[in-house]
Amino acid sequence: MKFEATLAALVAVILGVTIGGCQCKIIQFIFGDSLIDVGNNVYLAKSLAQPSLPWYGVDFGDGLPNGRFTNGRTVADIIGDSDGLPRPPAFMDPSLTEDVVLENGVNFASSGGGILNETGAHFIQRFSLYKQIELYMGIQKLIVNRIGQQEAQAFFQQAQYVVALGSNDFINNYLMPVYSASWKFTDESFVSYLMETLEGQLKLLHNLGARQLMVFGLGPLGCIPLQRVMSSSGACQERTNELAISFNKAASQLSDKLSGQLPNASLRFGDAYDFVNDMITNPLKYGFSNSNWPCCSLGNIRPAVTCTPVSTLCNDRSKYVFWDEYHPTDQANELIANELIKKFGFITANTTDAPSPAPAVAPSPPGFFF
Ligand SMILES: *[C@@H]1O[C@H](CO)[C@@H](O)[C@H](O)[C@H]1NC(C)=O
Ligand SMILES: *[C@@H]1O[C@H](CO)[C@@H](O)[C@H](O)[C@H]1NC(C)=O
Ligand SMILES: *[C@@H]1O[C@H](CO)[C@@H](O)[C@H](O)[C@H]1NC(C)=O
Repeated sequence: MKFEATLAALVAVILGVTIGGCQCKIIQFIFGDSLIDVGNNVYLAKSLAQPSLPWYGVDFGDGLPNGRFTNGRTVADIIGDSDGLPRPPAFMDPSLTEDVVLENGVNFASSGGGILNETGAHFIQRFSLYKQIELYMGIQKLIVNRIGQQEAQAFFQQAQYVVALGSNDFINNYLMPVYSASWKFTDESFVSYLMETLEGQLKLLHNLGARQLMVFGLGPLGCIPLQRVMSSSGACQERTNELAISFNKAASQLSDKLSGQLPNASLRFGDAYDFVNDMITNPLKYGFSNSNWPCCSLGNIRPAVTCTPVSTLCNDRSKYVFWDEYHPTDQANELIANELIKKFGFITANTTDAPSPAPAVAPSPPGFFF
């Protein structure tokens, strides 16, 4: 009798069935930028931030561009896979229905987007974090209509949330003289302004039901190839790196503070700054032969977008840290994801209070593009 009850409870946990009666799966809602966009921007016809041409996606699925700004998987793909969660489709994917949301979640990440509304304005179209949250609110309405208020509340509260933005607020806003932020703020006051804004956004997400949040920090932004070409020596831009370090410190404190303040909330912050910095400084240690030049490049011509059908690919994509001027390769993303998994303190199968992972689902290659 006791054994049967325990067994029933175990089955309920494994199926992700909660006592409140939500027969729903644990899925993810992902908010972010080009580091984890899985195709939203390819549906924004006027966006200049689009990985819609080869060689993007060359090592993913059928090898055609799929909306990711890399050759293979994003860091969020790899972390979700390791947690046994399905890969959420892009919000803009025309095949997105309520059933798809209930089964797989949604990815709202948009290339060029930032914490601030104005970030990335020169890309013409992108979803800022506020816009992404608005789109999430629209999804909530649809799900409430579909399964009712009470089940929907349980569904949204047991989901996993990823919030990963900030790089563009520096690279495609503060550090560009065309934006007013570059003359209105100092380095310090700009990071404070980003934190105030992010705090409001995280509280809003909590208000809307988010309880389990992972907040990603920034890497050494001053070492992306695009920043290196700004100096004649090709060295990393130290000021840009300092900004990323201040952002990470402040975002880590903010996450801890909100974890303590917001009812039933767990906000985990993780960054791979030191790890990536070491990978760039000592590439051989990590199996890389090149850490300062994009694998997909136009040789010595270095516009912001170097990866095009006429670009040349490096001989061995697994030996390059960077895929294009901004984004790491699949191989680098895998190492970064493993580092973040350690930082987030996952939730391994041997911990007792871990949320039950949804049954592993084989990631399906997104067939909605081309
Ligand atoms: C940013 O956009 C959101 C809605 O999209 C709006 O509510 C908010 O006031 C805007 N913030 C600023 C500082 O313009
Ligand atoms: C927090 O969790 C408790 C116990 O599950 C629940 O009764 C309460 O309503 C929750 N509060 C919020 C704000 O989610
Ligand atoms: C259990 O989890 C701990 C902490 O995450 C880890 O160090 C350990 O190797 C795990 N043990 C097994 C058997 O997986």
